[in-house]
Amino acid sequence: MSIRTGNNKVQYVCRECGCISLKWLGRCPDCGTWNQMIEEVKSLEIGRKSSQTRLPVEAPMPLAGVSVQPARRYPTGLGEMDRVMGGGVVPGSLILVGGDPGIGKSTLLLQTAFRLAQRGLRVLYVSGEESASQIKLRADRLGGSPPELFLLCESRIEEIQEASRKLQPLVIIIDSIQTMMHPGVSSVPGSVSQVRESGGALLSLAKSAEGPSIFLVGHVTKEGLLAGPRVLEHIVDTVLYFEGDGQHGFRILRAVKNRFGSTNEVGIFEMGVEGLTEIHDPSCLFIQERQKDGGGSAIAVSLEGSRPLLIEIQSLVSRSYFGVPQRRVSGLDYNRTCLMLAVLERRAGLILGTQDVFLSIAGGLAVSEPAVDLAAAVAVASSLKDETIDHETVVFGELGLGGEIRAVNQPERRIREAARMGFKRVVLPQHNLNQLKPQPGDLALTGVNTIREALAALLS
Ligand code: TYD
Ligand code: MG
Repeated sequence: MSIRTGNNKVQYVCRECGCISLKWLGRCPDCGTWNQMIEEVKSLEIGRKSSQTRLPVEAPMPLAGVSVQPARRYPTGLGEMDRVMGGGVVPGSLILVGGDPGIGKSTLLLQTAFRLAQRGLRVLYVSGEESASQIKLRADRLGGSPPELFLLCESRIEEIQEASRKLQPLVIIIDSIQTMMHPGVSSVPGSVSQVRESGGALLSLAKSAEGPSIFLVGHVTKEGLLAGPRVLEHIVDTVLYFEGDGQHGFRILRAVKNRFGSTNEVGIFEMGVEGLTEIHDPSCLFIQERQKDGGGSAIAVSLEGSRPLLIEIQSLVSRSYFGVPQRRVSGLDYNRTCLMLAVLERRAGLILGTQDVFLSIAGGLAVSEPAVDLAAAVAVASSLKDETIDHETVVFGELGLGGEIRAVNQPERRIREAARMGFKRVVLPQHNLNQLKPQPGDLALTGVNTIREALAALLS
């Protein structure tokens, strides 16, 4: 039931999508999720004011008459970050950086701030989570405190707006949006309405004349969604996800939305004692620890954005002692793997029904590309037969339900990467091979049409 008391109104907001209802509902009418409607008290006075002050009202104008400013960008100096953002920070843009707690978002943004400030660009780092001395300690570990890097430990939006007016920074970093408080909303920081109003206020700050570019840090829920601020994904220009596996040092920065560039690019970092280091040659890193004479291992070439990446797929097949054999997968899609095992059984005659199968990508990487299907399949076959795949061979191709090997995109890029890393042979879809121009160098290319042909080419 909704209650109105004076200037306050009770409403119910969906934590998933931000849908507002005057009554409590078990199921959100917008996104259909259950038990996500939470009660919030909204102040009518200021709520009205804040929604009015969002963006300046403009009259419609012919598209032809719109003057275009040359696209300016400020490279951050952190190459992997620039790659993901499409070359650097666009002035006046709003960028959301999401990721699990503890994955390294504060470290990444502090390092970005540090690099920008080192190049003489003024940056304001606002933290609602850590004290100034904590940040100073971390900054010292990461490189130091350049004079153009300013710090503000604050969570009130109006104070941040005021500081921005005085300081005129080029970039503001808000760590995190879930700790920010808008004066017009009485609910606790991190709630949907706080996040939405604070995000809206920061949007109008970024879009004002000569406004700063603003990075917003957003924590992600257990389900892998940006907690609360899903509503923010629509208003920001760029959404970046910082991902990684807590057990390994690798971190991947991925653009899931970018109004100013491609969303295909990924940036790869490694977390160490001195913060994040950029990995310019990831292929080298992911295959460096492999055992060259072990069965159950195959090297695949995956494309992450425009960047080819050599990865090692490891498999262990062992006799099952339970009625239902186990299938454990890490870094690959589970359903796709089950499908691949069924294809191996039916189309290549491997008996897997009595075997437990474990599959993983070395280094804690996750890959969703179908081009790694073939490598996963031959890794399983190699482990089952206890035969080693030649360690100078790379495999790629998509596996169809009929056991056919389907062509993948950009085969030249993948082959070039294999050659660069010193591999001698590539097993690839015949269809890809037919369309390739003659390759220079001494790389042997073997085209295969079916999974049977692939196994015959790789195993005895
Ligand atoms: P942090 O940036 O605070 O994560 P987030 O802001 O996403 O919550 O990083 C936290 C983790 O990073 C912490 O577990 C320690 C680790 N870390 C290092 O290993 N080396 C470093 O130099 C820094 C600064 C952090
Ligand atoms: Mg943090």
